[in-house]
Amino acid sequence: MNFLQTPLQSRFNIATHQLDPPFAVIDLDAFDANAADLLRRGHGVPLRLASKSLRVRALQDRAVAAGFTGTLCFTLPEALWLAKFGSDDLVVAYPTVDRKALRELAHSSARERVTVMVDCTEHLDAIAAAGGGPVKVCIDVDAGWRIGLMTIGAKRSPLHDPVHVTNLASEIVSRTGLILDGVMSYEGQIAGVGDRPPGKPLMQLALPILQALSARELARRRAEIVAAVRAIAPLRFVNGGGTGSIERTAAEPAVTEVAAGSGLFGPTLFDTYRAFKPAPAAWFALPVVRKPSPKLATALGGGYPASGAAGRDRLPRPLLPPGLKLDSREGAGEVQTPLVGKAAAALKVGDRVWFRHAKAGELCERFDVVHLIAGNEIVDTVPTYRGEGQTFL
Ligand SMILES: Cc1ncc(COP(=O)(O)O)c(C=O)c1O
Repeated sequence: MNFLQTPLQSRFNIATHQLDPPFAVIDLDAFDANAADLLRRGHGVPLRLASKSLRVRALQDRAVAAGFTGTLCFTLPEALWLAKFGSDDLVVAYPTVDRKALRELAHSSARERVTVMVDCTEHLDAIAAAGGGPVKVCIDVDAGWRIGLMTIGAKRSPLHDPVHVTNLASEIVSRTGLILDGVMSYEGQIAGVGDRPPGKPLMQLALPILQALSARELARRRAEIVAAVRAIAPLRFVNGGGTGSIERTAAEPAVTEVAAGSGLFGPTLFDTYRAFKPAPAAWFALPVVRKPSPKLATALGGGYPASGAAGRDRLPRPLLPPGLKLDSREGAGEVQTPLVGKAAAALKVGDRVWFRHAKAGELCERFDVVHLIAGNEIVDTVPTYRGEGQTFL
């Protein structure tokens, strides 16, 4: 296989020659460059780390050491777990109805470090039912763009207009046991959708326009909402955005911090943005275990599709050696992944193929550890959440 190797491939192969695939690696050179670029794009506005997009505590600590501030967690049990390691400023990005976790939060000192997300009175009731407190809450505001009956954006919070948000804010301040801590709105239609989708020329024309219009609508509405809520209660933070929208969200005066995570790993779904290009930092290697024919090579395992509406863009991509493709009928399989393309013929049993996942932290649900590569060597091997026995979702 040597004659086909790119510099990146030979660097990875040299670093990991003693390992037997399957295994996952993080290229620290790429990770650190991505961290610096994300922070540069924030222009001094703090970046809160979206932990779901890493799911490796050691790398979360590395991002914080690079300049990220606070964590946007994906479940309350995760936040409680991270709090035990000393993390503070943990905001849980999605509402919870986990009675046990709410009881633990309300009756422990974790409540000083953890903020939970709410968007309706049922969420407040669930917190009240846990007793104890006071518990810090953040209001999630719909960032979708409503055009007539249509909404462009994720189906998240029902709170869209300032009056919806101030009604809930007033309800929160009227209840004992709750502290209104922040407001969050995530514009997934901008931050999570690349504006240069390959092979879709019409979308390449339309998306930048739609995203600019949506961003303009949101900036106006977010400013109005934040001013109205601040008239009811002081806010510690106003969170918005994600990897794909950092510069735009950070430029809004009403926003005090931007969330980001995926840009650190640079998965394939983040290859399609005009404004920035993360370096691919997260990879996994699979061994070639058979040759169904001289032109094909089949790798072991590999069926790690990403979440979201199913489609080819959710599948992992075989990228090293260059010139490989997934088989259109089998895709990435549970126990084996046949590879086609001009490089497949040169692959021999025992060779390894390097893949990238479509999304960021989900890769870490497949491996107990990730090997950290710097230059030509593995400098550390650290557990993923899964490797620490933690599967939050
Ligand atoms: C609430 C929230 N904020 C921010 C993000 C952005 O995270 P990332 O930068 O990893 O895309 C997400 C991703 O889904 C999210 O749900």
